[in-house]
Amino acid sequence: MEQRLRMLLIDNGQEHLLKIYNRLAPAQQAALCEDLQQIDVHQLRELRALFTKQQTEHPPEPVFAPVPVTRFPPNDPERARCIAIGEEYLRRGRIALFLVAGGQGTRLGFEGPKGCFPITPVKGKPLFQLFAETIRALQHRYQTVLPWYIMTSRDNHALTDAFFKQHQYFGLDPAQVWLCRQQDVPSLDLMGRLILSPEYRIFKNPNGHGGSIQALATSGALADMARRGIDEVFYFQVDNPLVKIADPLFIGVHVDGRAQMSSKVVTKSDPHERVGIIGLINGRLGCIEYSELSPEQAAARTPNGELLFSSANIAIHMINRRFIEQLATDPAVRLPFHCARKNIPALDPETGAPQTICGIKFEMFIFDALGFAQRSCTLAVERDEEFAPVKNRTGPDSPETARAALMRLHRSWLRAAGCDIPESVAVEISPLFALDAEEFSTKFVPPAQWAAPLYIE
Ligand code: UD1
Repeated sequence: MEQRLRMLLIDNGQEHLLKIYNRLAPAQQAALCEDLQQIDVHQLRELRALFTKQQTEHPPEPVFAPVPVTRFPPNDPERARCIAIGEEYLRRGRIALFLVAGGQGTRLGFEGPKGCFPITPVKGKPLFQLFAETIRALQHRYQTVLPWYIMTSRDNHALTDAFFKQHQYFGLDPAQVWLCRQQDVPSLDLMGRLILSPEYRIFKNPNGHGGSIQALATSGALADMARRGIDEVFYFQVDNPLVKIADPLFIGVHVDGRAQMSSKVVTKSDPHERVGIIGLINGRLGCIEYSELSPEQAAARTPNGELLFSSANIAIHMINRRFIEQLATDPAVRLPFHCARKNIPALDPETGAPQTICGIKFEMFIFDALGFAQRSCTLAVERDEEFAPVKNRTGPDSPETARAALMRLHRSWLRAAGCDIPESVAVEISPLFALDAEEFSTKFVPPAQWAAPLYIE
């Protein structure tokens, strides 16, 4: 091993890798050296320091508090005013879309990028197709172009790229779809050491959705946004087929509030629902993870009987482009890493035997940027219209519950247009036909006869 790498290991408490290196075959040694060359020493030091801090310091329990939310009754003139602002931004081409799709989707148990998962109830359209068709419909409605940036990761970048190419970008212009790959970050064992994977590589994991700031900056996506005259970015997750992409109300509320980053929330369904809560953490805006609230806090109620911590984070944000630039460049507002204990496949550094160890994975979270925003709006919306995540293979937040939610929504549009479809009949309305109940009722003519399942395009 070349001297520089040897010193890097010795200076940073990684001698165990030297020991094992001497026992490896030449090809394995080469693989390990290739990874070591890429180690960012500053980052490694930072991660080790964070890990040590976590082991040794025990800060007082954080103080959580709810934040006020904006909620509009349907006929509120303020609502119409904000929608008009958002629509103007859309028409003038000042909005970009940013989808985070770098996650591993382990809980869903689907091989491949989650965006390729067939989700719609009748046609089985994949999530990516559903989003792409919605974007086409929005572009048609507002006579605009919505550049779409998608964050992928090491494990799904090539597959995502191939999927879009294979399907001709689902009718979008390939020049408006920009894939940017997030970076990986090394995990550590419980002694603060780098982990050797069974493939003789340094074990790394994707750096979390907070890695999107860096991914947007280093891939040139941020510069592309600036070149296109984008001011505001609509951020969403790959797992929510009900997301109202580029919702003009949300854009309007965010722009009108001169916010740097805003969030959408829904009312938490029960005290123990596994969602984060948008709230204050030691006085700073952020997301309180469900595991951080004690059972008593999770169940606490206000005098009028509502859950105290009820603003469920549905991971839909508006983020000002210049704020993203600041997050990417100004060390004073850099997103922190969080540590999580996870089981990791590894090689024993002494014997080289494969084993599963408990290690530390490091991730950044986009919602930590809320704490750096000078102004932020939290908009409460209806769960039935906007949130049905696909997380688990079965049970709550599964494909089954998401499809049921899509059908419930579309059945309600049909009902409002005078067509009552029995619960037993599967229904699906293409975004290319209508994006919402109002558009649907202006276009839809109930057919004299229809066949089940019902697909409207
Ligand atoms: C997340 C939020 C939670 C919120 C919920 C709503 C966190 C820690 N928690 O939970 O507050 O209530 O969504 O559905 O985020 N991703 C990447 N790269 C990564 C990791 C994730 O792109 O390295 C993407 C995923 O593809 C996905 C999204 O980020 O689109 C969320 O990731 P996931 O880990 O599934 O979040 P949850 O724990 O379900």
